[in-house]
Amino acid sequence: VTEQPYLAGLRLSGRRVVVVGAGTVVRRRLPALLEAGAVVTVIAPEVSPTVEALAGEGRLTWVPRDYRDGDLDGAWYVVVATDSPVANAAAAAEAERQRIFCVRADDAPAGTAVTPATGRHGAVSLAVLGGGDPGRAATVRDGLLEALRAGAVDDRAIRPVPEHDSGTTSALPGVALVGGGPGDPGLITVRGRELVARADVLIVDRLAPQALLALAPAHAEIIDAAKLPRGRSMLQETINELLVGRALEGRFVVRLKGGDPFVFGRGSEEVEACVAAGVPVTVVPGVTSAISVPALAGIPVTHRELAQEFVVASGHVPPGDPRSSVDWTALGRLRGTLVLLMAVENLASIATALVAGGRAAATPVAIVQEGSLPGERVLHSTLEAVGDEARRTGIRPPAVVVVGPVVRVRPRG
Ligand SMILES: C[S@@+](CC[C@H](N)C(=O)[O-])C[C@H]1O[C@@H](n2cnc3c(N)ncnc32)[C@H](O)[C@@H]1O
Repeated sequence: VTEQPYLAGLRLSGRRVVVVGAGTVVRRRLPALLEAGAVVTVIAPEVSPTVEALAGEGRLTWVPRDYRDGDLDGAWYVVVATDSPVANAAAAAEAERQRIFCVRADDAPAGTAVTPATGRHGAVSLAVLGGGDPGRAATVRDGLLEALRAGAVDDRAIRPVPEHDSGTTSALPGVALVGGGPGDPGLITVRGRELVARADVLIVDRLAPQALLALAPAHAEIIDAAKLPRGRSMLQETINELLVGRALEGRFVVRLKGGDPFVFGRGSEEVEACVAAGVPVTVVPGVTSAISVPALAGIPVTHRELAQEFVVASGHVPPGDPRSSVDWTALGRLRGTLVLLMAVENLASIATALVAGGRAAATPVAIVQEGSLPGERVLHSTLEAVGDEARRTGIRPPAVVVVGPVVRVRPRG
């Protein structure tokens, strides 16, 4: 009968763990040991710069020499991973003598403990042993994690930890504002995907990645925010009421937004509405279109020689309009990169205001329409010509406008 290891989770916080050796195996194990709070001593004549830095910061102790008998005194757990089988055997023998569980990197069956492939999903930790085949363990672990993320394995008992929990209604699963990224469903965060997969209610913006709705549980109610009564303030009020109302019914509400919830997304107003109603709310940041849409078109918003700053502004109100709080004259003096969102409609007057403020008329401009989506289109122009060219070529929102020399770094069109 093959011996079956007994699986246990070690609580290592504040406990001495000795690592003998400092090669690749050690670099892979150290982060988890430190994360578990272990008091780690590494014994090795030479270590990587990362381990040296950790020692310098006092996060572990480095003993810069070869292993000696007695080094394991007081340890609860030992990882042996030098490139000398003789030293490994000696350290393992001491561990055996001192009754300390010992992992042997060079000869796993000779150790008294084995390291599983591990993973985490919310509060759930996974540990998989592959019957002596680490590749098999990692594959199974990856598959289980993916199943949890996609909601194929039911983990509905897990809820996001609320950031703004009022304390009075903490039994409520609450609301998560999730940034969906620019549109490609692959550009949401892992956490965002997980939460979409366990939503009871999804309130979805027009520019949020619609393909992600396929991940929602079968019972989920999907509310299309684009179809709610129009008028800017009316729409926001209705959304706030829906968020709070559905959450107070005890359902977990995911508010799926385009890009990042706090970049021109009125996310803070939604947080405030939840807090005011005593509903726990958590924010999952997203990949904002302001940076990612230019990047997908090959345009870096900063560049060591061309742009030491980038400024993101909204162009939804034209220059000179009493509702505008943007100082277009100041932005005209900018030498680096200006990224404009919601600017297609007012592009001609914005370009004129920037030139009036001092920006050269020949400054390169790119407009990226529907970045990351099948209809992605890029127009290259200059400040003096962009108003006419955008109109002539029929550029439509959603589009990100980039002004500055970075536009020329790797033009694609
Ligand atoms: C109301 S703002 C929301 C921005 C969002 N919170 C973010 O961080 O990307 C909407 C504007 O974002 C820009 N935008 C969003 N997704 C885009 C995409 N896939 N392609 C181009 N522009 C996009 C457009 O300028 C659009 O008018």
